[in-house]
Amino acid sequence: MSITVKNISYHYDNPGSEHSGRQVLCDISVSFDRDSFTAVIGPTGSGKSTFIQHLNLLLRADQGDILYDGESIYAQGYDRKKLRSRVGLVFQYPEYQLFETDVLSDVSFGPKNLGLPEDEVRKRASQALLQVGFSEADFHRSPFELSGGQKRRAAIAGVLAMQPEYLILDEPAAGLDPAGRRELFDMLGELHKKGGVGIILVSHSMDDVAKYADRLIVLNEGRILYDATPAEVFSHGKELESIGLDVPQAAKAAQMLRNRGISLPEGLITMEQVKTAILDHFG
Ligand SMILES: Nc1ncnc2c1ncn2[C@@H]1O[C@H](COP(=O)(O)OP(=O)(O)OP(=O)(O)O)[C@@H](O)[C@H]1O
Ligand SMILES: [Mg+2]
Repeated sequence: MSITVKNISYHYDNPGSEHSGRQVLCDISVSFDRDSFTAVIGPTGSGKSTFIQHLNLLLRADQGDILYDGESIYAQGYDRKKLRSRVGLVFQYPEYQLFETDVLSDVSFGPKNLGLPEDEVRKRASQALLQVGFSEADFHRSPFELSGGQKRRAAIAGVLAMQPEYLILDEPAAGLDPAGRRELFDMLGELHKKGGVGIILVSHSMDDVAKYADRLIVLNEGRILYDATPAEVFSHGKELESIGLDVPQAAKAAQMLRNRGISLPEGLITMEQVKTAILDHFG
């Protein structure tokens, strides 16, 4: 159930646009397995959204190949619908796609489309809603009376109800307040731990990816600049800065303390790690 991306390149065909014909992805090779919680980061326009849309065939590479479970998704007659149920993609601001009268019906939409029997559809939809932190009392609320964070979670449940092997999300926490962000990332972390779902998400928050991801892929101008653990990637602060990316607040705080003569180990990227290191230092 791995995803193997082999030397893909892509350009948008936009007649009339000044960027028409420009390579947006250049010779990307990378693979994913379900054990990993991967974050894709990179400056605006680096190709993050374009890249993830290749993984479930919303976009098709000009060159290269993508294998799912060893099979080329570009092979003639390849079952796209099945791929999309296995590799679930949550768009940016997915709540705009909520449209049914109640949350349960909304989340049922995907599994219903898979042609599953009614009781299986309900079972999957309820399960997915519970997974994202809804209680049964909320199942029959209108999606429109939910909070921003709840709407977002309902929309994610709609993809989870397909029981995908991978969950791919484009900036899932965009526009949420700090509590909503934390809830959402905690939920994804739990899901990953318990559900055996591979997570691949795009994020602009270095603090969030430092805390939750175990692998970071840094895209710049359509190419992979780094593919490593968060601690390793954030050790390249200068290089990241040169392409307009930041390091986590915790890494900056640790550096400030080191500059003041407090010796802390390298590689601290979360506040939790910094706290522990400070306590050790003074302990
Ligand atoms: N539908 C499209 N038609 C033409 N060009 C596009 C289209 N979508 C994106 N692009 C261009 O492709 C490049 C990569 O865009 P993409 O949206 O993948 O970047 P991104 O890394 O997701 O950026 P952001 O962080 O702003 O979301 C950009 O130069 C963008 O202008
Ligand atoms: Mg994007």
